[in-house]
Amino acid sequence: MSDMIRTAAFDGLAERYDAQFTATALGTVLRKMSWRRFERAFAGREYLLDIGCGTGEDAIHFAKLGHRVVATDASLQMVRMATRKAELAGCARDIQFVWSPMERLGAELAGENFDGVYSNFGAINCAPDLAALAREIAPLLRPGAPLAWVVMGRYVPWEWAWYLAQGDAHTAFRRLRRGGVAWRGMQVSYPTPETLARVMQPHFVPRTVTPLGLLLPGSYAAPLFERMPRVLAVLAHAEQSLQRLHVGGVFADHYCFEARRQFL
Ligand SMILES: C[S@@+](CC[C@H](N)C(=O)[O-])C[C@H]1O[C@@H](n2cnc3c(N)ncnc32)[C@H](O)[C@@H]1O
Repeated sequence: MSDMIRTAAFDGLAERYDAQFTATALGTVLRKMSWRRFERAFAGREYLLDIGCGTGEDAIHFAKLGHRVVATDASLQMVRMATRKAELAGCARDIQFVWSPMERLGAELAGENFDGVYSNFGAINCAPDLAALAREIAPLLRPGAPLAWVVMGRYVPWEWAWYLAQGDAHTAFRRLRRGGVAWRGMQVSYPTPETLARVMQPHFVPRTVTPLGLLLPGSYAAPLFERMPRVLAVLAHAEQSLQRLHVGGVFADHYCFEARRQFL
């Protein structure tokens, strides 16, 4: 698949992505949960790589916390949007934006020595080949460097119920399709935490998996929660309790997969 197609897939979403997800009540709650995981993983680590940075929300957050970030994305419009936001937030100096597909980062960032790598809200699901991606980015990281990726899960009862209630079995079970789902000219895949751990393992040591949307639904339900802030608060509280119980992420809309770069 050509890079042009992959880039175009998200270009058309860049302008409205924050309004439809980032700035919603549900999006805000979910992102704060992901930041708690990331902040714990990257405490004391200065130089971070962001894969599929989108509109730059995470890169800006980490720059404000004192990290230096190289934020990368395959969509030029996303990179432009993120650059604008970083300038407005006064932290453009601490973020280097790189327009590049993740499968080319090895060449694009050759010689870099990152202290950690994160990727939020499904960018990793767009990777054409997860094993190749692990191989590509491993040399960019210091031995022992933490990796934290928020990935869309495969088995999502919330989503099954949501779309089945609307009589849409096709969408309800789309994540189970073998070979992934065709979307805007690209393939999106939904690995289980177990599959992801397996393909990463030659280069990374898996550590934890945390659900992010086990009780909370996915972004399709965001408009609903704008009208029901109390229900959102109750679900978010319950979700955090489950996270503390280490229930795993097999049935979550997203899960946070954490690992460490292998020592050589
Ligand atoms: C759902 S958005 C998530 C954006 C951001 N990480 C966030 O948390 O809001 C997925 C992002 O992955 C990017 N993406 C998709 N395929 C990519 C690829 N092959 N290489 C790099 N970025 C890619 C898209 O352009 C998009 O910005």
